[in-house]
Amino acid sequence: MKSRITIVKEFTIGDVDKNLFSSFIEHLGRAIYTGIYEPGHPTADEQGFRQDVIELAKSLNVSLIRYPGGNFLSNYNWKDGIGPKDDRPVRLDRAWHSIEPNKIGIDEFYDWTKKTGTEIMGAVNMGTGSISDAGDIIEYCNFPGGTYWSDLRIKNGHKEAYGIKYWCVGNEMDGTWQLGHMDALSYGRKANEAAKLMKFTDESIKTVICGSSTSSMKTYPEWDRIVLEETYDFMDYLSIHRYFENKGNDDDFLASWYNMDEFIKTSIATCDYVKALKRSNRTIFLSFDEWNVWYQNKKEPHPWETAPRILEEHYSLLDALTFGGMAITLLNHVDRVKIACLAQLINVIAPIFAEPKKGAYKQAIYFPFQDISLYGRGVSLKPVIKSDTKITDMYGELPAVIFASVYNEEENTVTVFALNTSKSEQSSTEINLWNFGKTQMFYWTELTGSDLSARNSLENQTAVYPQKRELVYSDDCNYQVILKAASWNVIRFKITED
Ligand code: AHR
Repeated sequence: MKSRITIVKEFTIGDVDKNLFSSFIEHLGRAIYTGIYEPGHPTADEQGFRQDVIELAKSLNVSLIRYPGGNFLSNYNWKDGIGPKDDRPVRLDRAWHSIEPNKIGIDEFYDWTKKTGTEIMGAVNMGTGSISDAGDIIEYCNFPGGTYWSDLRIKNGHKEAYGIKYWCVGNEMDGTWQLGHMDALSYGRKANEAAKLMKFTDESIKTVICGSSTSSMKTYPEWDRIVLEETYDFMDYLSIHRYFENKGNDDDFLASWYNMDEFIKTSIATCDYVKALKRSNRTIFLSFDEWNVWYQNKKEPHPWETAPRILEEHYSLLDALTFGGMAITLLNHVDRVKIACLAQLINVIAPIFAEPKKGAYKQAIYFPFQDISLYGRGVSLKPVIKSDTKITDMYGELPAVIFASVYNEEENTVTVFALNTSKSEQSSTEINLWNFGKTQMFYWTELTGSDLSARNSLENQTAVYPQKRELVYSDDCNYQVILKAASWNVIRFKITED
């Protein structure tokens, strides 16, 4: 099989926003309790935060962390999570059939983000919450002082305002599973008033309005159109979510990138349609604030308890490859996708897995995310691609090898991300960089293996692990490489002379 990518410095898609490398932590399962927070754990710091988890999170180089939900958000009162811990109420988390002890709230989570070098992407409850609650949390977090809510933050130990810039106005409100679910018009009107109140409290914030929770929703994309029309003046981003499932056909699963690509294109078209209707100069960007593969562990029946073991997906090499394809799609849409949150970060459908009282390790999806987060920064270039194709049941004929490429002017590097989706055939691939003058390949790692079901565990943390490949030289910037069957590749070039 053959493929070719030609990369030209002038063919730009756009700057890669640092928020493309964001993630998500929800009060769900063991994400908070025994995930980031486990007093008594051998690595716990003075606040009860696990430092082994902090270190793994730091090395992913994450930007924003969406918090506190998710479905949890739509029945959560943020005021339960502030003040002396012993005075906080224990509540039913009805979204996930769990007991919420409220030992972690916005103040503690803010401290955790400081320790991990990340920033909070806040979220306000549009299910059971009021628009006034939404305004209050902005005042609590972002107002310097001298008012009821800002003074309460100071009394609770944080003199400096948090300056949280990005705020989700609700979560997946189109879903019948959502507590307080509404039709598009009702949500649009409420979200508009909430966003207005929030922006009248702090005009520097950016709001993210709920679009469709997945492209297979019956209401998609009409929901998005109505919500955009109702909220246009007070919104900055349209939120979309997508999780892919392996329904037994690996080739369809590996082609998830294509479905995601279509979803993004339709969402952009819907935003631009409403822009035209409104005769507006403002462009709405996308916040793809939940993306991942997720199909093994859904919400199973379980007793009411704190931190149940739910949604604990154990990711395989095949999952990581599919995930890599999604990452490529995101990089190829950076002109409109400005925020993307890997859902989630710890234990719950996550790249980091932490066992209570024991250690933590990297799941298979950790590696492609780390690759794009470390090397996907700069300007995304439009790859001109020629590839042999493969036929999928779900999407028909598609290129077998897909690519994204990023030029980093500061470092003078070009990075190519390549996924060979063929399970049986290697690809003889040409990487053409003629437009860059003289170049030198200095880095090539691949994630592959003979067993696509291989998974890491606490006992075996390297069953899925990137390997170095031998570098290839070229005098004329035309690199001939072999991409193994079912492999994720990161190939980096130094520009030595323009
Ligand atoms: O990330 C898990 C759940 O998936 C989130 O709570 C919800 O928003 C989505 O349906």
